Amino acid sequence: MNPTPRHPSESQTTMTELVLPQHTNAFGTCFGGQILSWIDIAAGICSGRHARTVAVTVAFDDVHFITPIRLGDIVSVEARLCYTGRTSMEVEVQVWRQRYDEPREHANTAYVVFVAVDCDGRPVEVPPMLIDNDDDRARNNRAVSRREQRLAKAHRA
Ligand SMILES: CC(C)(COP(=O)(O)OP(=O)(O)OC[C@H]1O[C@@H](n2cnc3c(N)ncnc32)[C@H](O)[C@@H]1OP(=O)(O)O)[C@@H](O)C(=O)NCCC(=O)NCCS
Repeated sequence: MNPTPRHPSESQTTMTELVLPQHTNAFGTCFGGQILSWIDIAAGICSGRHARTVAVTVAFDDVHFITPIRLGDIVSVEARLCYTGRTSMEVEVQVWRQRYDEPREHANTAYVVFVAVDCDGRPVEVPPMLIDNDDDRARNNRAVSRREQRLAKAHRA
């Protein structure tokens, strides 16, 4: 394993989706499970880019759907690495909705943890995250406390 730290900008991932009829519920808003799937995919690409190997989802923090995302909306799903452990990575995913050229609106934020695995599904080490600015440092500090709470909830602390 190459221990060279990697900057979050190297793995940052943005997905753009258009809400089509097959993505909606009976109210014409985007089905929550569809948004979770997009979040999981964006975070999976981001963590795989960082680890440069397959990574599997191990935890998904609470997601609150506050702003409805409607049929015809353009959805941006932006994923950025915020923490690396020995084999795990936490990714922050911001979801935005937009109508044509109107200002975009924040829809929700999710934190997803991935573990890099080998071909037998066993955890493997990931490169450390290179932190060189205050935003990433603050994001990383918040991720450390989320990790403690998450592992306590999962009875792994
Ligand atoms: C992910 C998986 C490989 C981890 O295996 P494991 O035996 O728990 O491995 P470890 O105990 O060595 O833990 C590996 C890392 O995962 C972290 N981890 C394990 N359970 C966790 C949880 N519930 N929440 C957050 N992190 C967790 C550990 O803290 C450790 O992180 P670190 O190496 O950075 O310190 C295993 O649980 C698995 O295969 N899960 C199913 C994954 C899957 O199928 N996902 C698809 C979605 S259903």
